[in-house]
Amino acid sequence: MSISKMSAEPRKILVTSALPYANGSIHLGHLVEYIQTDIWVRFQKMRGNEVHYVCADDTHGTPIMLRAEKEGITPEQLIDRVWHEHKADFDGFHVEFDHYGSTNSAETREYAQAIYRKLKAAGLIEVRSVEQFYDPIKNMFLPDRFIKGECPKCGAKDQYGDNCEACGAAYAPTELKNPYSAVSGAKPELRNSDHYFFKLSADTCQKFLREWTRSGALQPEAANKMQEWLGAEGENKLTDWDISRDAPYFGFEIPDAPGKYFYVWLDAPVGYMGSFKQLCSLPSPTGGELARGPAGGGGTPVDFDEFWDKQKAERSGTELYHFIGKDILYFHALFWPAMLQHAGFRTPTKLFAHGFLTVNGEKMSKSRGTFITAESYLKQGLNPEYLRYYYAAKLNGTMEDIDLNLEDFVARVNSDLVGKLVNIASRSAGFLTKYFDGYLSAWPKNDGTLADDILGSTTRSELPVIVWDGSEEIELAYENREYSKVIREIMHRADLINQKYDSYKPWNLTKDESQRQLLHDVCSAAIDAFALLIYHIQPILPELSRQAAEFLQLPFPLQWGIKPNLTKRIQPYQHLMTRIDQKQIDAMIDSNKDSLSPSPSPASGRGEVAQSEQRHAAHQQHTANKEVAHAEKDFESFIGIEDFAKIDLRVAKIVNAEHVEGAEKLLKLTLDIGEEQTRTVFAGIKSAYDPEKLKGRMTVMVANLAPRKMKFGLSEGMVLAASGDASGLFILSPDDGAQPGMRIK
Ligand code: 2FM
Ligand code: ZN
Repeated sequence: MSISKMSAEPRKILVTSALPYANGSIHLGHLVEYIQTDIWVRFQKMRGNEVHYVCADDTHGTPIMLRAEKEGITPEQLIDRVWHEHKADFDGFHVEFDHYGSTNSAETREYAQAIYRKLKAAGLIEVRSVEQFYDPIKNMFLPDRFIKGECPKCGAKDQYGDNCEACGAAYAPTELKNPYSAVSGAKPELRNSDHYFFKLSADTCQKFLREWTRSGALQPEAANKMQEWLGAEGENKLTDWDISRDAPYFGFEIPDAPGKYFYVWLDAPVGYMGSFKQLCSLPSPTGGELARGPAGGGGTPVDFDEFWDKQKAERSGTELYHFIGKDILYFHALFWPAMLQHAGFRTPTKLFAHGFLTVNGEKMSKSRGTFITAESYLKQGLNPEYLRYYYAAKLNGTMEDIDLNLEDFVARVNSDLVGKLVNIASRSAGFLTKYFDGYLSAWPKNDGTLADDILGSTTRSELPVIVWDGSEEIELAYENREYSKVIREIMHRADLINQKYDSYKPWNLTKDESQRQLLHDVCSAAIDAFALLIYHIQPILPELSRQAAEFLQLPFPLQWGIKPNLTKRIQPYQHLMTRIDQKQIDAMIDSNKDSLSPSPSPASGRGEVAQSEQRHAAHQQHTANKEVAHAEKDFESFIGIEDFAKIDLRVAKIVNAEHVEGAEKLLKLTLDIGEEQTRTVFAGIKSAYDPEKLKGRMTVMVANLAPRKMKFGLSEGMVLAASGDASGLFILSPDDGAQPGMRIK
């Protein structure tokens, strides 16, 4: 049974993506998350669920304040300008928020203060004196990242106040030798000031978090990490959280505490509530006070409390999902739920954390030009859906990092999207327009079902069946954010359609008048199958789907579970998608190259240098800071069995091996892995093997490695070989008896 049929009532879902800082551009690292979320939201809307997708700019904190000062404008002017830039970038990539707000709003202030007051009333706020570095020229306390000096461990100069980029040591800013203010250059002084703390160490918080982090709201790897951060039962590892900053600070003043401001990370997640509150207050199409209904539904009022009030949310079963990067789990899985719980609000249903983005296998880097801004991508005229497709093909429900390999990106988009998917429409449309005036072989009745007289035409129905069969698997994969599986399933079907189409050789059928009906049926069937492929890929490629619906004369958007009507007549075909030209990629990289920039920043995949500074400044609480830094490393050092299971290792028989003209290191191998067709693999083993001796040997190959376009042809996988410090290269062989195609597990 499909998931959509299991729940008769539409679900009521509130979805958020992390709020980007208002002092930096959106780049391709950020887009992993927004595209991941947008696909999920579109899928849920397609299924008829009531979904509200909100986000906002994260506008407060010292870095934004200082940046505005440097530019000679007010923080409000800065955040207003950046808001428009961010919004244009998101629109450009078809990331469709139902509302995009700002944390610097009356609504966010109201909820931040309300939460604070409730925590205070519950005895969970404590004031303590804190000693901290102060810049006597700027007259301000300095966040760790704005203090520099010599590393206490290795002596490296100009290191930040929290960790050394030369030796990796973590320390407190007071340990730096010869510290200076990165803002004014002054020698900082240690001064005392009252700070407000949220008492996370209180039994009630620890007990609640212990339960909540085990409740199923977190991915298994995140839940394990949380248990580590929380410590064993009774260990009470959590320390209180410093939620205040002294003036001057761009943010919200703390009630009854003049000169004290909420630390940016206190009000950032409250921005989810503030933005949603604004959505609820937008003028409704029906003029109601409570405004906008479910996307696509229109007019039904949205009740803020139904989604945020603890009791009301429980009663109505509304769901709340936060999509975030794994580096901000600490804030979302500990501080945020504890705040909500103790202030009488609902807690998140689930956190969906994703990994970082690497480009060409490495951290994004300004000097290499791989710190690619969303704007520069769009400026090159690159279709945003190429990236949506590529990210989808790489994403799954885990926190593992994903790589944007630019060569693979070009090859995959050109071969999958243009060469396979769109090709189905373009090749059959040509014949339909030329020979049949665009009409399909049997006109459907008004209700979309086939007229009786063509039910006998198996040709027209055999192709669509290939696509429609097993559609529930795709639905489940979308729900679980297993988009790479969605893509695999869809592309597999596209392959089958192309093969089937080819088997009829329509280009020959045109030459024989007596074959007209068959030609008509085959091309019509290909169009029907194409419509079904579009139906399945709509959440990932919304713009292509819109254009395809126009071409197919189908309603848009398509609804999940409702098979699209059969097309009666197509519009003349116009290019739905064109191939990427490598030159566009080269130009994009060039435009992002910053030859003056220092070596790659230690930033996470999501942040650029400025944002990394802000994030580090944000992590002024040392324990949290170190834990997060460690967490990032820990998440990367092991893979789970599910990661290993993704590698399709097969026994392969080398049926042919030959030299490749012009290639110094490569041999061209033809491998039998038990499939209908053999695979070609270019392997860098020429130095170690005579091709003649390889023929007939068994080896091991990775069968699901994305095909790679090389100078000499397409390489469709990889054979495994061992090498080490000593010379020599040794391909792997299975034991006697293993047959081509056997899986290695
Ligand atoms: O890490 C960041 O980029 C933060 N601006 C994310 C905030 S998410 C939420 F808490 F607001
Ligand atoms: Zn050091």
